[in-house]
Amino acid sequence: MRSALPTLARVGFTFVLLAAAAARISAQHPDLGGEPLTDELCLACHDDVREAIAKTPHKALERGCVSCHDILSKTAQAPFLRLDPNPLCLACHHVSLLPGAVPPASVEIARGFAIPGSFLPRIRQLNLDQRGVGHPVANHPIAGPSDPLRKGRPFGCLSCHVPHGSASPKLLVFKLAPGEGICHKCHQM
Ligand code: HEC
Ligand code: HEC
Ligand code: HEC
Ligand code: HEC
Ligand code: HEC
Repeated sequence: MRSALPTLARVGFTFVLLAAAAARISAQHPDLGGEPLTDELCLACHDDVREAIAKTPHKALERGCVSCHDILSKTAQAPFLRLDPNPLCLACHHVSLLPGAVPPASVEIARGFAIPGSFLPRIRQLNLDQRGVGHPVANHPIAGPSDPLRKGRPFGCLSCHVPHGSASPKLLVFKLAPGEGICHKCHQM
């Protein structure tokens, strides 16, 4: 098992790490014997993901599972993510490109992995201010130390969105009754 935490933290928090190991640290992915890593291959084993994308799929999937996951990496973030969730999402959804500018030939998502720049104009960009806040409403943070709904996890894109597919619009994690807003899920308003 590998940890991205510095050694000192690992020594100090061995007990905590053991307790949290299943959630935070990925073991090696089962060996797939050098098979080409097509989505069909992945989905043959990962039924829950197949079910999720049978709803409304995230269009990032057009670039394949491998755009976000690197199952061969020994340094990926659990669960085999190329980057931590927020930087991963922002790699596609917050790319500074002046209006009308020609997209670059390719956009690097993580070291050693890029998507064609021609994919970029299709991706809606978050309208964040200079402080990096302002989604889904003005001044709202997109990151923070703790998620009010998922104990022990940071607040971020995954507090409100699922990565693969959702039965709710906009890939929201929440099931909303008709006319219900999401704000009160976390705030008393
Ligand atoms: C032969 C079956 C098989 C194939 C094919 C396969 N996986 Fe897996 N995968 C597993 C097993 C078994 C595990 C470990 C148990 C688990 O967490 O589901 C795992 C774990 C994972 C995890 C971590 C899950 C977690 O909760 O920590 C991710 C992410 C993942 N696989 C993605 C992929 C991707 C992407 C592909 C295609 C490139 C793929 N897998 C192909 C069987 C497979
Ligand atoms: C847009 C980026 C992205 C794409 C594309 C993507 N994933 Fe994921 N995946 C994630 C993130 C982020 C998580 C972590 C979710 C969490 O922690 O709540 C995750 C979690 C997982 C997990 C573990 C937990 C679970 O939901 O079952 C598996 C297995 C997995 N992905 C497989 C796949 C497969 C197979 C594909 C292709 C069909 C795929 N992913 C495509 C971002 C992505
Ligand atoms: C490889 C590029 C890529 C990555 C990485 C990526 N997305 Fe997307 N995403 C897309 C594309 C393409 C679309 C479809 C066009 C659009 O709505 O922007 C999309 C659409 C969306 C939508 C709108 C869905 C709808 O139904 O209107 C949400 C929400 C979203 N992504 C959230 C995320 C989150 C959260 C992450 C990180 C887990 C993420 N994206 C990572 C490419 C990406
Ligand atoms: C507090 C909840 C929350 C968080 C955190 C959050 N979002 Fe959203 N997001 C929403 C809601 C609600 C919508 C739908 C807004 C609407 O329909 O006007 C949305 C819409 C989107 C869309 C579609 C944009 C559009 O114009 O329809 C994308 C893309 C997106 N989010 C990406 C992200 C990414 C990337 C992150 C992390 C950096 C993130 N979101 C964090 C709640 C959230
Ligand atoms: C998934 C949980 C979640 C949802 C859903 C959510 N928020 Fe938040 N919100 C947070 C967190 C976490 C913070 C930062 C910590 C805090 O101030 O409590 C925050 C902060 C805020 C703030 C203070 C921002 C500032 O100026 O510092 C406002 C206002 C706010 N949210 C309004 C909303 C509104 C309006 C909605 C619905 C569109 C919404 N929130 C949806 C979790 C959420």
